[in-house]
Amino acid sequence: MAHHRPLLAFTLCLLTAPLFPAAAATGEARVDALLRQMTLDEKLGQLTLYSGGTATGPETGRRAYEAMVAAGEVGAFLNVVGPDVNRLQKIALEDSRLKIPLIFALDVIHGYRTIFPTPLGLSATWSPDLVERSARIAALEARADGLRWTFAPMVDIARDARWGRITEGAGEDPYLGRVMAAAYVRGFQGRALGGPHSIAATLKHYVGYGAAEGGRDYNTTQIPERLLREVYLPPFRAGVEAGAATVMTGFNALNGVPASANDFILRRILRQEWGFEGLVVSDWTSIAEIEAHGTARDGGDAARKAITAGVDMDMESDLYRTRLGAEIAAGRVALSVIDEAVRRVLRLKMAVGLFDEPYAELDPDAMVQPGFREVAREAAERSFVLLKNDGVLPLKPDAKVALIGPLAEDAGAMLGSWGARGRPGDVVTLRAALAHRLGGGLIYARGTGIDTRSDDGFAEAVAAARQSDIAILALGEDAGRMTGEAASRTRLDLPGNQTALLKAVAETGVPIVLLVFSGRPLDLTDVAPDVEAMLAVWYPGIEAGPALSRVLYGDSSPGGRLTVSFPRAVGQEPLYYNRLSTGRPVPPEDRSGGGEPLPKYVSRYIDEEDTALYPFGYGLSYTRFSYGPVSVEHDRYSARALNAGKTRIRVRGEVTNVGERPGEEVVQLYIRQRGTSVARPVRELKGFQRVALRPGETREVEFSLGRDELAFWTIDMEHLVEPADLQVWIAGSSTDGQPATTLIGD
Ligand code: GLC
Repeated sequence: MAHHRPLLAFTLCLLTAPLFPAAAATGEARVDALLRQMTLDEKLGQLTLYSGGTATGPETGRRAYEAMVAAGEVGAFLNVVGPDVNRLQKIALEDSRLKIPLIFALDVIHGYRTIFPTPLGLSATWSPDLVERSARIAALEARADGLRWTFAPMVDIARDARWGRITEGAGEDPYLGRVMAAAYVRGFQGRALGGPHSIAATLKHYVGYGAAEGGRDYNTTQIPERLLREVYLPPFRAGVEAGAATVMTGFNALNGVPASANDFILRRILRQEWGFEGLVVSDWTSIAEIEAHGTARDGGDAARKAITAGVDMDMESDLYRTRLGAEIAAGRVALSVIDEAVRRVLRLKMAVGLFDEPYAELDPDAMVQPGFREVAREAAERSFVLLKNDGVLPLKPDAKVALIGPLAEDAGAMLGSWGARGRPGDVVTLRAALAHRLGGGLIYARGTGIDTRSDDGFAEAVAAARQSDIAILALGEDAGRMTGEAASRTRLDLPGNQTALLKAVAETGVPIVLLVFSGRPLDLTDVAPDVEAMLAVWYPGIEAGPALSRVLYGDSSPGGRLTVSFPRAVGQEPLYYNRLSTGRPVPPEDRSGGGEPLPKYVSRYIDEEDTALYPFGYGLSYTRFSYGPVSVEHDRYSARALNAGKTRIRVRGEVTNVGERPGEEVVQLYIRQRGTSVARPVRELKGFQRVALRPGETREVEFSLGRDELAFWTIDMEHLVEPADLQVWIAGSSTDGQPATTLIGD
């Protein structure tokens, strides 16, 4: 395999992925021929996915893999990479009766060895092309280590910053979620699933996992069907339409029914409405957990409910292999249901080329190629969101800098919560990059730990600040404990005594640039007044240092815009921009911050403003952008014509770079519909464009709105465009801009 093609050629092969290739006739004939030969145990073996535990992932203690593979009792492994892949494959191909190849998977979420910003950071780039390129590189590297399947992209919409897994997705908005889901699928799967640089994608965690009550991971989710269809399902549908090969069910009970035993979402929506033909895999023991949820009496009942609802493969419960035989013998599960699931497993293995090339061509040289680092750095630079800048950024090249904080040289943290096979040794930390740029102009003082009470290091940090012109504080969350799975927090402020450290440094009067490393929105209310500049930098990946150094010194601009709302207080959670108005909204004029007391009897808190500290879509630049008036082509449209796809609403605006530096703006299109049969959000994102502008340059931007953008689930649960008063914004965030209006008549 020519892994050394120039990146450009490699990038050019990023064409849209076909729909999941319905198995070609020969493939189906092969499937039929195999099925006819398979014993029931061999069929149940194909539905069994184990964690090999050799590479990453928890140890399962199970060691007799070789014997089980030889007996045809395993269909797939996760967490097995490199030479172990071919070792186990050899057993399957030489010792098992039917020689069906194994498929190997791993959670390749935001890179394999070249680690990119965590997905929440990647979403803040608002650059689907960049996300696609990152996934393409990840696929190439994963494939070169024996993998054919990744458990990504995670496309769960998340509206609650307390939920640790908000880091893994594309934030709170379904439109952006759709765009990013499709980009990841195209990147991972490439033009053809069996291509040398392609791996099968997995849309996860189907569905509604991010709506965990209280932001507490694995907690129950209660989602009315309209909300499910308008917020949580769209990114999955976009991924299916982009050709995703597989879907993974979530841990959550959705309206009382565990997702892994939920006929409504698996058969009615995924299979019947969307026509998905690929494989459905459970999450880690989520089939066994049907019993803990309370909707199965025992493991056999759980296995029956899962396979009947439509879960094809069992990750780590081991219940399909051990309990379905009895369910079939008792007539509670039809053999045809098993055969359909086995077909999907065999089709997947054919689609990824395992029947033609079962052995991996391992290629350690494919990893972390120079061109890949460039993409990782570009992605990181575009992911940083500038939240505040009193003018201290970009930094002056001759300024004496104090670098303070536990995240400044924490290489492992830069890999985020799903670091796959990323290595801390591949990371260039912020400290290393600034030391390289500044040499003696840099003083470093750790100051404190991430989650400690000890202020032993404060004095050294304060002293370093006093000797400097500027203090850069690298603060935030522990990537290993405080973000990702099973990492829900009840507080959103900086952990430990990091705020106290910041206050102590602020006492010196030295200007502060705060870099917030986190997997979620944090509550920065208490620190924002004490800093001159602040950026949300997420976990930026292996090029963290160079990207931060370039942005801090203005070699490139911070290009990010928020895809999640940053709260003023954790008590506001769940917090999201596309909320409903309520019958007693805070009147807009009262948000002017004019100091008058807010009216009492409106929907708000008495102890905090109800708005986000930093809203969805927000992000500053090193220049400034100004928007002209928005215009809509006509002042009246027909709902009937829009539903029939006979017309679209053209919207125009213009944006000008009114600053002194070139910059990129993310121009955002929002709508609001009033007078409809059900209340619609106060704003809904329906389009965006990244626009690069030189100082003084003005660009006209145009969007169009059609059925896809305007239809919603009406009072009768029909997906239609209704007559409505329509407001349209073209703005730089979800709270900016003046709307244009038009009427949608019958
Ligand atoms: C984990 C996660 C899931 C992941 C799987 C395999 O529990 O929920 O996202 O793909 O197990 O690691």
